Amino acid sequence: MRQARLVALVNPPTSQYAANWSNPLTRADWLRGSFYTDLGRLLERGRFDMVFLADALAVPEDADGEIATTLRTGGKGAIYLDPIVGLSHIAAVTTHLGLGATVSTTFQHPFSIARSLLSLDQLSGGRAAWNIVTSTTDAEARNHGLQAIPDRAARYDRADEVVQSVIDLWEGWEPDALRLDTAGRVFADPARVHRAPERNASIPHARGPLAIPRSPQNRPVLMQAGASPRGLEFAARWAEVVFATGGSPDVHRTHRAALRERCRQLGRDPESLLYLPAIQPVLGSTGADARRRLQSLEDALDADEALVALGRLLHSRPEELDPDAPAVPLIQAHRGATGSGGFERSMLHTAQTEDLTIRELAFRQALSQFNLQPVGTPAKVADELEKLLDSGAADGFVVMPALYLTSFEDVVDGLVPELQQRGRLREEYEHTTLRANLASP
Ligand SMILES: Cc1cc2nc3c(=O)[nH]c(=O)nc-3n(C[C@H](O)[C@H](O)[C@H](O)COP(=O)(O)O)c2cc1C
Repeated sequence: MRQARLVALVNPPTSQYAANWSNPLTRADWLRGSFYTDLGRLLERGRFDMVFLADALAVPEDADGEIATTLRTGGKGAIYLDPIVGLSHIAAVTTHLGLGATVSTTFQHPFSIARSLLSLDQLSGGRAAWNIVTSTTDAEARNHGLQAIPDRAARYDRADEVVQSVIDLWEGWEPDALRLDTAGRVFADPARVHRAPERNASIPHARGPLAIPRSPQNRPVLMQAGASPRGLEFAARWAEVVFATGGSPDVHRTHRAALRERCRQLGRDPESLLYLPAIQPVLGSTGADARRRLQSLEDALDADEALVALGRLLHSRPEELDPDAPAVPLIQAHRGATGSGGFERSMLHTAQTEDLTIRELAFRQALSQFNLQPVGTPAKVADELEKLLDSGAADGFVVMPALYLTSFEDVVDGLVPELQQRGRLREEYEHTTLRANLASP
């Protein structure tokens, strides 16, 4: 029987649910360490494999390059703390929970990426992961001296080189290079600490070594969410965890099978790559209670704000959007605008299969970003998750609940015990490093 891996995604105060920040059930201290430490303790109690923090490197702009609507409405990305700093707080109060940081390959030099992630990995005893992103917006490029975001092919070319260089730096110290031999007066064995190989790459070479020894888990775990053809190729080559978006089990099945097949072709064991669809569970003590909770989430969304947010995402002026027009032509006309192949695919799939208008599309985007949204008692939601695990659609899930932290509490106190009773989730962590725990079910 397949056990599920559980990962939590957070980007406080915005969640995948647009009205999280204004909900009275949402914690108000999301700019304070207390939010992160309580979150970490809660997820570890729920035996989650990992928490990871999303990130972007600019306040999102609308089609006119303005940031006013993002700021006024608390749009997604209006606030992002540096993930490594938030995760350091969590590391200090947890012992087994994995810690994933989103870091872009497009703007940072490999040396600084390798250094900060390996520092987190050492301080946490081998629990760090890198969510590798290539960034997607011109606004992010303009914060780094560029006028526009490089095209997808160029971003992935660079990402391949950056990841290789980061790994070379992480592996500079052999596992036993740090000797601490007081009698023999040897701190570290110089013969076992190496500079990074020259690889004829186009990015500036990072010669190394890092002034940080080898990680307790050998190196931080690699994860990514790119889903264009090039993104899949990148995942099959590098990723150990793939974070997938989309609301269709069939699409997840196809996508997971394609990734596993590509792994085989590259000589990789497909079991070394975990495919985790995002879910936004809405739990209740009865079916009616869960539906009532969903209804109250829906009622709190503002239709005008949802339309503005959709316009921002698709680089369209909201006044040019006809809310009652069909959504599919709009998505097709703006393909490429979001910079995320997976996100556009799931948006298009939902609009096509459900024949959505632009108003409905905006609403769905604001509610759950087109992800799987199981609604019901813990038993009913667990049934749905078991089906996904057993039908080859998932190796586990990225839980991205609507409200911080109450929705996570519902998962930890309701869904987690249900999955444990069914033998679908660990009762205890077996290992102390993230990579070992991810491999153990
Ligand atoms: C579910 C999901 C979550 C993502 N989270 C982030 C993020 O936090 N920060 C970011 O810069 N990019 C994020 N991305 C963008 C991807 O990591 C990737 O860089 C982008 O999708 C381009 O690759 P693709 O065209 O191959 O999909 C996310 C994408 C998806 C589908």
